[in-house]
Amino acid sequence: MDILWSIVGACLPCFPDLSSPSVTIKDIKYRIVKLLGEGGFSYVYLVKSNNDNAPYAIKKIRCPFGSNDESYKNSIKEIKNYHRFVKFGTPYIIQSIEEVIINEPDGSKSIYILLPYFEKSLQDIINNLVLNDDKMPEDEILKVFIGICRGLKVMHNYKTTSDEQRHQQHDNASTTSTDEEGLLLPPGSDDDEDGPTNIPTELSELIPYAHRDIKPANVMISAEGLPVLVDLGSCSKARIKIRNRQQALTLQDIAQEHCTLPYRAPELLDVVKNSEITEKTDIWSLGCLLYACCFGYSPFEKLEIEQGANISLAISQGKFLIPKNNGGYSSELMDIINQCLKLNPDKRPTIDKLLDTALELSRKSNY
Ligand SMILES: *[C@@H]1O[C@H](CO)[C@@H](O)[C@H](O)[C@H]1NC(C)=O
Ligand SMILES: *[C@@H]1O[C@H](CO)[C@@H](O)[C@H](O)[C@H]1NC(C)=O
Repeated sequence: MDILWSIVGACLPCFPDLSSPSVTIKDIKYRIVKLLGEGGFSYVYLVKSNNDNAPYAIKKIRCPFGSNDESYKNSIKEIKNYHRFVKFGTPYIIQSIEEVIINEPDGSKSIYILLPYFEKSLQDIINNLVLNDDKMPEDEILKVFIGICRGLKVMHNYKTTSDEQRHQQHDNASTTSTDEEGLLLPPGSDDDEDGPTNIPTELSELIPYAHRDIKPANVMISAEGLPVLVDLGSCSKARIKIRNRQQALTLQDIAQEHCTLPYRAPELLDVVKNSEITEKTDIWSLGCLLYACCFGYSPFEKLEIEQGANISLAISQGKFLIPKNNGGYSSELMDIINQCLKLNPDKRPTIDKLLDTALELSRKSNY
């Protein structure tokens, strides 16, 4: 967080500038090449650095109501997520490079996040396979899947040190303290935000995080060919106790907005009170992703395409089909899909177990 706040106001981007659209961040000018995507109040641009002419992505978020804005709070949370996992040195989770928050004269704010640029996503690869009626070989699928599991393992096993907890409690950074992990925590769920109020005696505390929007479009392929989990906007503390109907509905609405339907876990589709949502939602999505690597679509999308099924209904019934002869893949690989797509979250494997299973299968098929 210190990193974030130290740069605020240190540098003003000169964007938009009609003559030559560019953004200046930390004295480096980035020329805007094109708009890569937009949604709500955010825009993602492909830019080139004037420094080394290398491509980057810049995400711009407009917050018309300044720090009271939902989009502001969500962006601060997203930025924290880009920093949260850095200390684990994993290449499988995206990190931001810089952030700038601009206070506009009209009281609004603009946030710029400088990110690495990746040329293609796993979804692009899958689209190409579908288009060419082609298949990904099993060992390649396993390689990608194992990398994604390694990234998720860092999130699901996230620990804070007592040091960080102390630091967080004493943190004054005005606007951020109002938010914390707000997005996937319905108001009233008395999930302890900043760790215990007393300084814990343990050295660290397990606080699992979930990505919450695992899908092939959120897995980019790095220049080194490694899968990278991106879009940490919905990444949140994983375990949420749902105590009443209002909390259930709030979480359901949030999930509807942030978790792509064909990859959304059944417990997020229809949130029931007196339940607990956990990181097992990601395991469900992983099962859908693995299926998509094999057969081109999420299992529930496929059922819709082939049988006109209602996606929501198919998900809530856990209904999907494995093609004849496993489409040429091993029954062990299909078994991983089946394990992830258990309606009961407790029956799904943990990320550690899943990674072990995938590694073992990968070793076996390499002989
Ligand atoms: C935190 O806030 C208190 C009072 O609001 C102030 O005295 C203190 O200097 C602040 N600490 C930092 C690190 O900004
Ligand atoms: C699909 O099923 C859900 C609930 O099972 C229902 O609310 C929805 O209206 C259905 N959609 C269509 C297009 O029939």
